Amino acid sequence: MRPVHSLLKRQLKRHLNVEDPGALPPEWRPFLESINEAYHQSDADRVMIERSMELSSQELLSINALTKERERRLRTLLENVSLVAVGLDKDGRVEYANPFYLKLTGFSEADVLGQPWFDRFVVGGTGGQTHQAFRRIMESEFFPQYENVILRKDGEERRISWNTTLLRDEKGDIIGTLSIGEDITDKLKLQQQMIDNEKARTIAQLAGGVAHEVKNPLAVLLQGLEYFIRQIDFGDNKIIPAILKDMQHAVLRADSIIKGLLDLSRPPQMSLKPENINPILENSYLLLKNNFDRRHIRLEWKLDPALPMVVVDKEKLLQVFINLFNNASEAMSQGGGVITVCTSTVKSEGGHCVVTVIEDTGSGIPPDVMSRIFDPFFTTKRGQGGTGLGLPIVKNIMQLHGGTIEIRNRKEGGAHVRLEFPVRKINQMAMGFAEQG
Ligand SMILES: Nc1ncnc2c1ncn2[C@@H]1O[C@H](COP(=O)(O)OP(=O)(O)OP(=O)(O)O)[C@@H](O)[C@H]1O
Ligand SMILES: [Mg+2]
Repeated sequence: MRPVHSLLKRQLKRHLNVEDPGALPPEWRPFLESINEAYHQSDADRVMIERSMELSSQELLSINALTKERERRLRTLLENVSLVAVGLDKDGRVEYANPFYLKLTGFSEADVLGQPWFDRFVVGGTGGQTHQAFRRIMESEFFPQYENVILRKDGEERRISWNTTLLRDEKGDIIGTLSIGEDITDKLKLQQQMIDNEKARTIAQLAGGVAHEVKNPLAVLLQGLEYFIRQIDFGDNKIIPAILKDMQHAVLRADSIIKGLLDLSRPPQMSLKPENINPILENSYLLLKNNFDRRHIRLEWKLDPALPMVVVDKEKLLQVFINLFNNASEAMSQGGGVITVCTSTVKSEGGHCVVTVIEDTGSGIPPDVMSRIFDPFFTTKRGQGGTGLGLPIVKNIMQLHGGTIEIRNRKEGGAHVRLEFPVRKINQMAMGFAEQG
Protein backbone atom coordinates (compact mmCIF):
# COMPACT_ATOMS: atom_id res chain seq x y z
CA MET A 1 0.00 0.00 0.00
CA ARG A 2 1.14 3.52 -0.80
CA PRO A 3 1.77 5.84 2.17
CA VAL A 4 -1.51 6.78 3.81
CA HIS A 5 -2.82 9.94 2.18
CA SER A 6 -3.19 12.90 4.55
CA LEU A 7 -6.89 13.26 3.72
CA LEU A 8 -7.55 9.57 4.55
CA LYS A 9 -5.64 9.99 7.79
CA ARG A 10 -7.80 12.98 8.70
CA GLN A 11 -11.03 11.08 7.94
CA LEU A 12 -10.00 7.99 10.01
CA LYS A 13 -9.15 10.20 12.94
CA ARG A 14 -12.37 12.18 12.71
CA HIS A 15 -14.87 9.32 12.22
CA LEU A 16 -13.17 6.31 13.90
CA ASN A 17 -10.69 8.01 16.22
CA VAL A 18 -7.90 5.84 14.71
CA GLU A 19 -4.36 7.14 13.92
CA ASP A 20 -2.91 3.98 12.29
CA PRO A 21 -5.04 2.08 9.70
CA GLY A 22 -3.11 -1.10 10.66
CA ALA A 23 -5.12 -1.03 13.91
CA LEU A 24 -8.34 -1.64 11.98
CA PRO A 25 -9.77 -5.12 11.19
CA PRO A 26 -7.89 -6.85 8.28
CA GLU A 27 -11.12 -7.31 6.19
CA TRP A 28 -11.24 -3.45 5.86
CA ARG A 29 -7.83 -3.41 4.19
CA PRO A 30 -8.78 -3.74 0.44
CA PHE A 31 -11.45 -1.09 0.95
CA LEU A 32 -8.99 1.35 2.66
CA GLU A 33 -6.37 0.69 -0.06
CA SER A 34 -8.76 1.63 -2.86
CA ILE A 35 -9.78 4.86 -1.08
CA ASN A 36 -6.09 5.71 -0.48
CA GLU A 37 -5.31 5.03 -4.16
CA ALA A 38 -8.19 7.26 -5.32
CA TYR A 39 -6.90 10.14 -3.16
CA HIS A 40 -3.37 9.79 -4.61
CA GLN A 41 -4.74 9.54 -8.15
CA SER A 42 -6.81 12.72 -7.76
CA ASP A 43 -3.67 14.52 -6.51
CA ALA A 44 -1.82 13.49 -9.66
CA ASP A 45 -4.74 14.58 -11.84
CA ARG A 46 -4.88 17.96 -10.14
CA VAL A 47 -1.19 18.56 -10.73
CA MET A 48 -1.59 17.66 -14.39
CA ILE A 49 -4.60 19.94 -14.86
CA GLU A 50 -2.83 22.81 -13.09
CA ARG A 51 0.25 22.42 -15.25
CA SER A 52 -1.73 22.36 -18.49
CA MET A 53 -3.77 25.35 -17.39
CA GLU A 54 -0.59 27.25 -16.65
CA LEU A 55 0.71 26.37 -20.10
CA SER A 56 -2.42 27.41 -21.95
CA SER A 57 -2.69 30.68 -20.08
CA GLN A 58 0.92 31.42 -21.05
CA GLU A 59 0.05 30.53 -24.62
CA LEU A 60 -3.05 32.71 -24.46
CA LEU A 61 -0.99 35.61 -23.17
CA SER A 62 1.50 35.31 -25.98
CA ILE A 63 -1.25 34.93 -28.62
CA ASN A 64 -2.92 37.98 -27.13
CA ALA A 65 0.32 39.96 -27.26
CA LEU A 66 0.85 38.87 -30.86
CA THR A 67 -2.68 39.88 -31.86
CA LYS A 68 -2.27 43.20 -30.10
CA GLU A 69 1.04 43.79 -31.87
CA ARG A 70 -0.52 42.92 -35.24
CA GLU A 71 -3.45 45.19 -34.52
CA ARG A 72 -1.09 47.98 -33.46
CA ARG A 73 0.94 47.62 -36.66
CA LEU A 74 -2.18 47.61 -38.83
CA ARG A 75 -3.54 50.63 -36.99
CA THR A 76 -0.23 52.53 -37.29
CA LEU A 77 -0.23 51.73 -40.98
CA LEU A 78 -3.82 52.91 -41.44
CA GLU A 79 -3.19 56.04 -39.37
CA ASN A 80 -0.13 57.08 -41.34
CA VAL A 81 -0.71 56.16 -44.97
CA SER A 82 -1.82 58.77 -47.49
CA LEU A 83 -4.74 56.51 -48.32
CA VAL A 84 -8.33 56.67 -47.20
CA ALA A 85 -9.40 53.81 -44.89
CA VAL A 86 -12.99 53.25 -43.83
CA GLY A 87 -14.43 50.36 -41.83
CA LEU A 88 -18.16 49.61 -42.06
CA ASP A 89 -20.35 47.27 -40.02
CA LYS A 90 -22.77 44.83 -41.64
CA ASP A 91 -25.40 47.53 -42.08
CA GLY A 92 -23.04 49.97 -43.77
CA ARG A 93 -22.48 52.21 -40.72
CA VAL A 94 -19.05 53.72 -40.16
CA GLU A 95 -17.04 51.94 -37.49
CA TYR A 96 -13.63 53.34 -38.37
CA ALA A 97 -12.28 56.24 -40.42
CA ASN A 98 -8.55 56.93 -40.55
CA PRO A 99 -6.93 60.37 -40.04
CA PHE A 100 -6.23 60.75 -43.78
CA TYR A 101 -9.95 60.41 -44.54
CA LEU A 102 -10.78 62.98 -41.84
CA LYS A 103 -8.16 65.40 -43.17
CA LEU A 104 -9.28 64.96 -46.77
CA THR A 105 -12.96 65.49 -46.06
CA GLY A 106 -12.87 67.96 -43.16
CA PHE A 107 -15.17 65.74 -41.05
CA SER A 108 -14.37 64.95 -37.41
CA GLU A 109 -14.55 61.43 -36.01
CA ALA A 110 -17.75 62.40 -34.18
CA ASP A 111 -19.30 63.45 -37.52
CA VAL A 112 -18.79 60.03 -39.11
CA LEU A 113 -18.70 57.25 -36.50
CA GLY A 114 -21.97 55.31 -36.37
CA GLN A 115 -23.39 57.20 -39.36
CA PRO A 116 -24.80 55.44 -42.45
CA TRP A 117 -21.89 55.65 -44.90
CA PHE A 118 -23.81 55.45 -48.15
CA ASP A 119 -26.55 57.91 -47.16
CA ARG A 120 -24.30 60.56 -45.73
CA PHE A 121 -20.91 60.40 -47.40
CA VAL A 122 -21.24 58.85 -50.88
CA VAL A 123 -22.63 60.47 -54.01
CA GLY A 124 -25.55 58.30 -55.13
CA GLY A 125 -26.49 57.38 -51.54
CA THR A 126 -28.33 54.22 -50.51
CA GLY A 127 -29.48 52.31 -53.56
CA GLY A 128 -26.68 53.92 -55.57
CA GLN A 129 -24.08 51.86 -57.42
CA THR A 130 -21.61 51.77 -54.52
CA HIS A 131 -24.24 50.62 -52.07
CA GLN A 132 -25.15 47.81 -54.44
CA ALA A 133 -21.46 46.87 -54.68
CA PHE A 134 -21.33 46.74 -50.85
CA ARG A 135 -24.34 44.42 -50.73
CA ARG A 136 -22.79 42.20 -53.38
CA ILE A 137 -19.60 42.05 -51.33
CA MET A 138 -21.51 41.11 -48.18
CA GLU A 139 -23.67 38.51 -49.90
CA SER A 140 -21.33 36.79 -52.27
CA GLU A 141 -18.00 37.43 -50.58
CA PHE A 142 -16.70 38.91 -53.78
CA PHE A 143 -14.01 41.60 -53.38
CA PRO A 144 -14.18 44.00 -56.25
CA GLN A 145 -11.98 46.98 -56.87
CA TYR A 146 -14.22 49.91 -57.66
CA GLU A 147 -14.35 53.69 -57.86
CA ASN A 148 -16.86 56.04 -56.37
CA VAL A 149 -17.30 59.67 -55.46
CA ILE A 150 -17.33 60.72 -51.81
CA LEU A 151 -18.39 64.04 -50.35
CA ARG A 152 -16.30 66.43 -48.32
CA LYS A 153 -17.87 68.41 -45.49
CA ASP A 154 -17.94 71.51 -47.74
CA GLY A 155 -19.77 69.59 -50.47
CA GLU A 156 -16.75 69.15 -52.74
CA GLU A 157 -16.56 65.78 -54.44
CA ARG A 158 -13.50 63.49 -54.47
CA ARG A 159 -13.16 60.39 -56.65
CA ILE A 160 -11.71 57.38 -54.79
CA SER A 161 -10.42 54.07 -56.13
CA TRP A 162 -11.22 51.43 -53.46
CA ASN A 163 -10.05 47.96 -52.48
CA THR A 164 -12.38 46.24 -50.05
CA THR A 165 -11.89 43.27 -47.78
CA LEU A 166 -14.35 41.42 -45.55
CA LEU A 167 -13.97 41.45 -41.77
CA ARG A 168 -14.94 38.34 -39.77
CA ASP A 169 -15.28 37.50 -36.09
CA GLU A 170 -13.48 34.57 -34.42
CA LYS A 171 -16.26 32.20 -35.51
CA GLY A 172 -15.69 33.20 -39.12
CA ASP A 173 -18.95 35.13 -39.47
CA ILE A 174 -18.85 38.32 -41.57
CA ILE A 175 -19.07 41.43 -39.39
CA GLY A 176 -18.33 44.19 -41.90
CA THR A 177 -15.82 45.52 -44.41
CA LEU A 178 -12.57 47.45 -44.40
CA SER A 179 -11.93 49.54 -47.51
CA ILE A 180 -8.72 51.26 -48.47
CA GLY A 181 -8.85 53.82 -51.21
CA GLU A 182 -6.68 56.19 -53.21
CA ASP A 183 -7.88 59.72 -53.91
CA ILE A 184 -7.52 59.89 -57.70
CA THR A 185 -9.33 63.21 -58.21
CA ASP A 186 -6.24 65.28 -58.99
CA LYS A 187 -4.66 62.55 -61.12
CA LEU A 188 -7.81 62.32 -63.26
CA LYS A 189 -8.06 66.10 -63.45
CA LEU A 190 -4.48 66.31 -64.66
CA GLN A 191 -5.08 63.56 -67.23
CA GLN A 192 -8.24 65.33 -68.40
CA GLN A 193 -6.36 68.63 -68.56
CA MET A 194 -3.67 67.09 -70.75
CA ILE A 195 -6.32 65.61 -73.05
CA ASP A 196 -8.20 68.94 -73.10
CA ASN A 197 -5.06 70.92 -73.85
CA GLU A 198 -4.09 68.59 -76.66
CA LYS A 199 -7.62 68.65 -78.05
CA ALA A 200 -7.83 72.43 -77.75
CA ARG A 201 -4.48 72.85 -79.50
CA THR A 202 -5.51 70.68 -82.44
CA ILE A 203 -8.91 72.34 -82.76
CA ALA A 204 -7.39 75.80 -82.41
CA GLN A 205 -4.86 75.09 -85.17
CA LEU A 206 -7.53 73.81 -87.49
CA ALA A 207 -10.02 76.53 -86.64
CA GLY A 208 -7.38 79.24 -86.89
CA GLY A 209 -6.56 78.17 -90.43
CA VAL A 210 -10.21 78.17 -91.49
CA ALA A 211 -10.96 81.44 -89.67
CA HIS A 212 -8.11 83.15 -91.43
CA GLU A 213 -9.46 82.14 -94.81
CA VAL A 214 -13.05 83.15 -93.94
CA LYS A 215 -12.26 86.46 -92.24
CA ASN A 216 -11.56 88.46 -95.39
CA PRO A 217 -14.53 87.31 -97.50
CA LEU A 218 -16.78 88.07 -94.50
CA ALA A 219 -15.35 91.59 -94.27
CA VAL A 220 -16.10 92.08 -97.99
CA LEU A 221 -19.67 90.84 -97.53
CA LEU A 222 -20.21 93.08 -94.51
CA GLN A 223 -18.94 96.17 -96.25
CA GLY A 224 -21.08 95.42 -99.28
CA LEU A 225 -24.19 94.96 -97.15
CA GLU A 226 -23.53 98.16 -95.20
CA TYR A 227 -23.11 100.01 -98.51
CA PHE A 228 -26.46 98.72 -99.84
CA ILE A 229 -28.28 99.55 -96.60
CA ARG A 230 -26.84 103.08 -96.42
CA GLN A 231 -26.70 104.14 -100.04
CA ILE A 232 -29.60 102.56 -101.89
CA ASP A 233 -33.06 104.01 -101.76
CA PHE A 234 -35.51 101.14 -101.84
CA GLY A 235 -38.55 103.40 -101.95
CA ASP A 236 -41.67 101.65 -100.63
CA ASN A 237 -40.07 98.26 -100.78
CA LYS A 238 -39.78 97.09 -97.15
CA ILE A 239 -38.82 93.50 -97.91
CA ILE A 240 -35.40 94.12 -99.43
CA PRO A 241 -34.05 96.29 -96.56
CA ALA A 242 -35.40 93.71 -94.05
CA ILE A 243 -33.62 90.91 -95.91
CA LEU A 244 -30.43 92.98 -96.05
CA LYS A 245 -30.64 93.57 -92.25
CA ASP A 246 -31.09 89.84 -91.64
CA MET A 247 -28.08 89.16 -93.86
CA GLN A 248 -26.07 91.76 -91.97
CA HIS A 249 -26.97 90.08 -88.63
CA ALA A 250 -26.01 86.69 -89.96
CA VAL A 251 -22.67 87.94 -91.25
CA LEU A 252 -21.98 89.79 -87.97
CA ARG A 253 -22.64 86.61 -86.03
CA ALA A 254 -20.35 84.61 -88.31
CA ASP A 255 -17.77 87.36 -87.87
CA SER A 256 -17.98 87.15 -84.08
CA ILE A 257 -17.46 83.37 -84.24
CA ILE A 258 -14.44 83.87 -86.48
CA LYS A 259 -13.04 86.47 -84.07
CA GLY A 260 -13.52 84.01 -81.20
CA LEU A 261 -11.72 81.29 -83.14
CA LEU A 262 -8.85 83.61 -83.95
CA ASP A 263 -8.65 84.55 -80.27
CA LEU A 264 -8.22 80.88 -79.46
CA SER A 265 -5.61 80.16 -82.08
CA ARG A 266 -3.58 83.34 -82.46
CA PRO A 267 -0.32 83.74 -80.57
CA PRO A 268 -1.40 86.00 -77.72
CA GLN A 269 -0.88 89.72 -77.89
CA MET A 270 -0.72 90.47 -74.20
CA SER A 271 -0.53 93.86 -72.63
CA LEU A 272 0.46 93.03 -69.07
CA LYS A 273 0.34 95.56 -66.22
CA PRO A 274 -0.03 95.34 -62.45
CA GLU A 275 -3.76 95.60 -61.77
CA ASN A 276 -6.26 95.17 -59.00
CA ILE A 277 -8.84 92.54 -59.97
CA ASN A 278 -11.72 94.19 -58.03
CA PRO A 279 -12.31 97.21 -60.34
CA ILE A 280 -11.98 94.98 -63.43
CA LEU A 281 -14.81 92.84 -62.04
CA GLU A 282 -16.90 95.94 -61.31
CA ASN A 283 -16.29 97.39 -64.79
CA SER A 284 -17.27 94.11 -66.44
CA TYR A 285 -20.54 94.23 -64.50
CA LEU A 286 -21.20 97.88 -65.47
CA LEU A 287 -21.08 96.88 -69.14
CA LEU A 288 -23.87 94.35 -68.52
CA LYS A 289 -25.82 96.19 -65.81
CA ASN A 290 -28.73 97.40 -67.97
CA ASN A 291 -29.35 93.94 -69.31
CA PHE A 292 -29.07 92.39 -65.82
CA ASP A 293 -31.44 94.95 -64.25
CA ARG A 294 -34.04 94.19 -66.89
CA ARG A 295 -33.79 90.51 -66.11
CA HIS A 296 -33.87 90.97 -62.29
CA ILE A 297 -30.33 89.72 -61.88
CA ARG A 298 -28.69 91.15 -58.81
CA LEU A 299 -24.98 91.07 -57.94
CA GLU A 300 -23.72 90.49 -54.44
CA TRP A 301 -20.16 91.68 -53.88
CA LYS A 302 -17.74 90.17 -51.37
CA LEU A 303 -14.54 91.83 -52.55
CA ASP A 304 -11.41 91.77 -50.43
CA PRO A 305 -10.33 95.43 -50.16
CA ALA A 306 -6.73 94.40 -49.44
CA LEU A 307 -6.27 92.35 -52.61
CA PRO A 308 -2.66 92.36 -53.85
CA MET A 309 -1.97 93.57 -57.40
CA VAL A 310 -1.50 90.94 -60.10
CA VAL A 311 0.13 91.39 -63.47
CA VAL A 312 -2.61 90.86 -66.05
CA ASP A 313 -4.00 92.01 -69.38
CA LYS A 314 -6.98 94.09 -68.28
CA GLU A 315 -8.88 93.85 -71.57
CA LYS A 316 -8.53 90.09 -71.64
CA LEU A 317 -9.76 89.82 -68.05
CA LEU A 318 -12.79 91.96 -68.92
CA GLN A 319 -13.51 89.36 -71.60
CA VAL A 320 -13.18 86.56 -69.02
CA PHE A 321 -15.52 88.16 -66.49
CA ILE A 322 -18.10 89.23 -69.11
CA ASN A 323 -18.21 85.66 -70.47
CA LEU A 324 -18.67 84.23 -66.98
CA PHE A 325 -21.29 86.81 -65.95
CA ASN A 326 -23.17 86.12 -69.19
CA ASN A 327 -23.09 82.36 -68.59
CA ALA A 328 -24.39 82.90 -65.05
CA SER A 329 -27.19 85.17 -66.20
CA GLU A 330 -28.15 82.88 -69.07
CA ALA A 331 -28.55 80.02 -66.59
CA MET A 332 -31.14 81.98 -64.59
CA SER A 333 -34.87 81.46 -65.07
CA GLN A 334 -37.28 84.27 -66.01
CA GLY A 335 -37.55 85.31 -62.37
CA GLY A 336 -33.89 86.37 -62.27
CA GLY A 337 -31.44 85.49 -59.51
CA VAL A 338 -28.26 86.39 -57.69
CA ILE A 339 -24.65 86.31 -58.84
CA THR A 340 -22.18 86.39 -55.97
CA VAL A 341 -18.66 87.66 -56.68
CA CYS A 342 -16.00 87.04 -54.11
CA THR A 343 -12.28 87.86 -54.20
CA SER A 344 -9.62 86.75 -51.74
CA THR A 345 -5.98 85.85 -51.38
CA VAL A 346 -4.90 82.34 -50.50
CA LYS A 347 -1.53 80.83 -49.80
CA SER A 348 -0.48 78.31 -52.40
CA GLU A 349 2.63 76.27 -53.11
CA GLY A 350 5.49 78.70 -53.36
CA GLY A 351 3.54 81.95 -53.07
CA HIS A 352 0.12 83.53 -53.00
CA CYS A 353 -2.89 83.28 -55.29
CA VAL A 354 -5.58 85.82 -55.96
CA VAL A 355 -8.86 83.90 -56.10
CA THR A 356 -12.07 85.07 -57.75
CA VAL A 357 -15.22 83.04 -57.22
CA ILE A 358 -18.36 83.69 -59.25
CA GLU A 359 -21.42 81.79 -58.06
CA ASP A 360 -24.92 81.87 -59.46
CA THR A 361 -28.38 80.70 -58.49
CA GLY A 362 -29.11 79.38 -62.00
CA SER A 363 -29.84 75.90 -63.29
CA GLY A 364 -26.35 74.52 -62.70
CA ILE A 365 -24.56 72.35 -65.25
CA PRO A 366 -26.11 68.95 -66.05
CA PRO A 367 -23.59 66.30 -64.86
CA ASP A 368 -23.56 64.59 -68.26
CA VAL A 369 -22.22 67.72 -70.01
CA MET A 370 -19.79 68.79 -67.26
CA SER A 371 -16.79 67.16 -68.97
CA ARG A 372 -17.49 68.99 -72.26
CA ILE A 373 -18.11 72.60 -71.23
CA PHE A 374 -14.57 73.67 -72.15
CA ASP A 375 -14.75 72.04 -75.61
CA PRO A 376 -14.79 74.62 -78.41
CA PHE A 377 -18.30 74.83 -79.92
CA PHE A 378 -19.91 72.85 -77.11
CA THR A 379 -23.11 74.67 -76.16
CA THR A 380 -26.51 73.82 -74.73
CA LYS A 381 -27.83 77.14 -76.10
CA ARG A 382 -27.55 76.52 -79.81
CA GLY A 383 -31.07 77.80 -80.52
CA GLN A 384 -30.49 80.94 -78.41
CA GLY A 385 -27.36 82.13 -80.17
CA GLY A 386 -24.73 80.28 -78.08
CA THR A 387 -21.50 79.57 -79.97
CA GLY A 388 -19.81 77.44 -77.33
CA LEU A 389 -16.64 79.51 -77.55
CA GLY A 390 -17.09 81.46 -74.27
CA LEU A 391 -15.49 79.01 -71.85
CA PRO A 392 -12.69 77.82 -74.19
CA ILE A 393 -11.66 81.47 -74.60
CA VAL A 394 -11.87 82.05 -70.83
CA LYS A 395 -9.72 78.99 -70.19
CA ASN A 396 -7.21 80.06 -72.80
CA ILE A 397 -6.89 83.52 -71.25
CA MET A 398 -6.49 82.03 -67.77
CA GLN A 399 -3.72 79.77 -69.05
CA LEU A 400 -1.99 82.75 -70.69
CA HIS A 401 -1.93 84.35 -67.23
CA GLY A 402 -0.54 81.16 -65.64
CA GLY A 403 -3.85 80.81 -63.85
CA THR A 404 -6.51 78.13 -63.54
CA ILE A 405 -10.28 77.84 -63.83
CA GLU A 406 -12.48 75.28 -62.14
CA ILE A 407 -16.23 74.92 -62.52
CA ARG A 408 -18.53 72.79 -60.41
CA ASN A 409 -22.11 72.74 -59.27
CA ARG A 410 -23.08 74.14 -55.88
CA LYS A 411 -24.83 71.88 -53.40
CA GLU A 412 -27.67 74.41 -53.21
CA GLY A 413 -28.00 74.56 -57.02
CA GLY A 414 -26.34 76.86 -59.53
CA ALA A 415 -22.74 76.95 -60.70
CA HIS A 416 -19.51 77.81 -58.85
CA VAL A 417 -16.61 79.14 -60.92
CA ARG A 418 -13.21 79.55 -59.28
CA LEU A 419 -10.37 81.45 -60.95
CA GLU A 420 -6.87 81.44 -59.51
CA PHE A 421 -4.13 83.87 -60.45
CA PRO A 422 -0.85 82.78 -58.90
CA VAL A 423 0.90 86.03 -58.01
CA ARG A 424 4.43 84.68 -58.32
CA LYS A 425 3.83 82.98 -61.65
CA ILE A 426 2.23 86.08 -63.10
CA ASN A 427 5.29 88.16 -62.31
CA GLN A 428 7.46 85.59 -64.03
CA MET A 429 5.04 85.54 -66.97
CA ALA A 430 5.31 89.29 -67.29
CA MET A 431 9.06 88.93 -67.58
CA GLY A 432 8.61 86.12 -70.08
CA PHE A 433 6.39 88.27 -72.26
CA ALA A 434 8.70 91.25 -71.93
CA GLU A 435 11.49 89.05 -73.26
CA GLN A 436 9.32 87.72 -76.10
CA GLY A 437 7.98 91.13 -77.05
N1 LIG B 1 -23.01 79.34 -64.99
C1 LIG B 1 -23.48 78.32 -65.74
N2 LIG B 1 -24.61 77.68 -65.39
C2 LIG B 1 -25.07 76.64 -66.13
N3 LIG B 1 -24.47 76.18 -67.25
C3 LIG B 1 -23.34 76.76 -67.66
C4 LIG B 1 -22.77 77.87 -66.93
N4 LIG B 1 -21.64 78.24 -67.57
C5 LIG B 1 -21.51 77.42 -68.63
N5 LIG B 1 -22.53 76.55 -68.71
C6 LIG B 1 -22.70 75.47 -69.70
O1 LIG B 1 -21.51 75.37 -70.47
C7 LIG B 1 -21.80 75.49 -71.86
C8 LIG B 1 -20.62 76.14 -72.56
O2 LIG B 1 -20.46 77.48 -72.12
P1 LIG B 1 -19.79 78.53 -73.09
O3 LIG B 1 -19.73 79.84 -72.41
O4 LIG B 1 -18.51 77.95 -73.60
O5 LIG B 1 -20.76 78.58 -74.34
P2 LIG B 1 -22.21 79.22 -74.42
O6 LIG B 1 -22.46 80.08 -73.24
O7 LIG B 1 -23.15 78.11 -74.68
O8 LIG B 1 -22.09 80.08 -75.73
P3 LIG B 1 -21.38 81.52 -75.85
O9 LIG B 1 -20.56 81.73 -74.63
O10 LIG B 1 -20.57 81.41 -77.05
O11 LIG B 1 -22.50 82.47 -75.96
C9 LIG B 1 -23.08 76.30 -71.91
O12 LIG B 1 -23.79 76.07 -73.11
C10 LIG B 1 -23.83 75.77 -70.68
O13 LIG B 1 -24.45 74.55 -70.96
MG1 LIG C 1 -21.05 81.54 -72.68
